[in-house]
Amino acid sequence: LVTCAPVLGEGPLGVIERGALAAYGGRITWVGPEADLRDAVEPAPGATEIDAGGRAVLPGLVECHTHLVFAGDRSAEFAARLAGQPYEAGGVRTTVAATRAASDDELRAFAMERLDRFASFGVTTVEAKSGYGLSPEHELRLLRVAASLRHPVEVVRTFMGAHVVPPEHDEQAYAEMLVEMMPTIGNLAEFCDVWIDRGAFGVGSARDILRAAHQAGLGLKVHAEQLEHSGGAVLAASFGAVSADHLEHATEQDADALAAANTVGVLLPGASMMTASPFAPARMLIERGVRVALSTDFNPGTSYSENLQLVIALACSQLHMSVPEAILGVTRHAAAALSREGIVGSLEPRAHANLVILEGISELDLAYHYGVNLVNRTISGGTRFDPPSRCE
Ligand code: NIG
Ligand code: FE
Repeated sequence: LVTCAPVLGEGPLGVIERGALAAYGGRITWVGPEADLRDAVEPAPGATEIDAGGRAVLPGLVECHTHLVFAGDRSAEFAARLAGQPYEAGGVRTTVAATRAASDDELRAFAMERLDRFASFGVTTVEAKSGYGLSPEHELRLLRVAASLRHPVEVVRTFMGAHVVPPEHDEQAYAEMLVEMMPTIGNLAEFCDVWIDRGAFGVGSARDILRAAHQAGLGLKVHAEQLEHSGGAVLAASFGAVSADHLEHATEQDADALAAANTVGVLLPGASMMTASPFAPARMLIERGVRVALSTDFNPGTSYSENLQLVIALACSQLHMSVPEAILGVTRHAAAALSREGIVGSLEPRAHANLVILEGISELDLAYHYGVNLVNRTISGGTRFDPPSRCE
């Protein structure tokens, strides 16, 4: 039992050999050695018993950074990249046009399919950013679509009106529009994210947007230091942001600021791989005390994959992270990047009964047996999740 709660077992992943857990009403009530189970737990009438048959059991994986709700296709842009075109932020506008043209029902259907695929890979929590609407009306629509998704995977909503500047405005006018919009978001989003980069937002307008978001009660996230070094990480730290994401061009000073602010660094090696860009300096960040989480960055431009297991293998092979570091990156630390540490991403009393039974006896397989789906069974909120077959 890989609890990802170090106090409950051995090593950084808190592993309990021959472990067991009990859950009631969707929450974990007890975790410990199987030998203690009968004395510690009185099963409720009608309780279900699941024998994992010696397989490794982990928390349901936590995907802490996606651009879930969009329409359209950017495969031509991808093919052009293979022929030597560099990735540029402006590609976002292709998706904006397709997304604005799609109906709510179409957007909902696409998002549901993507959630099914995430769940099939053992993911039970998915963060979803808006950011392909880029007007008050369309951004709120994307958040409403995300809020309407009825799925066993929990969706955590982030407002990312500050993805890029839409063609019909200049940066300053659009930033002012976003600042005015902030109080209207209410509970449609829990976080606000800003992309600070070449072709996106400068530090000055980002500061105004983040300040307004903070005043409106939203948690803060920043897409920082992706295409070049722009000062996004230090700005994120100065606001005590919950996470700074990307960090491919982060410096030691950035790392020190993030560590001091307890801002989680979310690394996205799939985006580096698929845009032929540098990988984030994960070892430097970890050695300077940054808590590192990992994510697919699921989006149509830089990383079109729901396979969070593959990100573990990429983190170990390309970011030089250890297997425990990578697994914490998609469980406990990813939960911290969503202000949900101890609630999801770990198997401990009071946490949600979200678990993955792996097709393997060890969590090491997630890095070693790469590129395949190692899920034997996913349980979300105490209920078994069987992804629907899409071949009928
Ligand atoms: O995280 N960096 C900003 N946003 C996405 C890419 C968006 C797109 O190209 O559509 C990312 O990589
Ligand atoms: Fe992103």
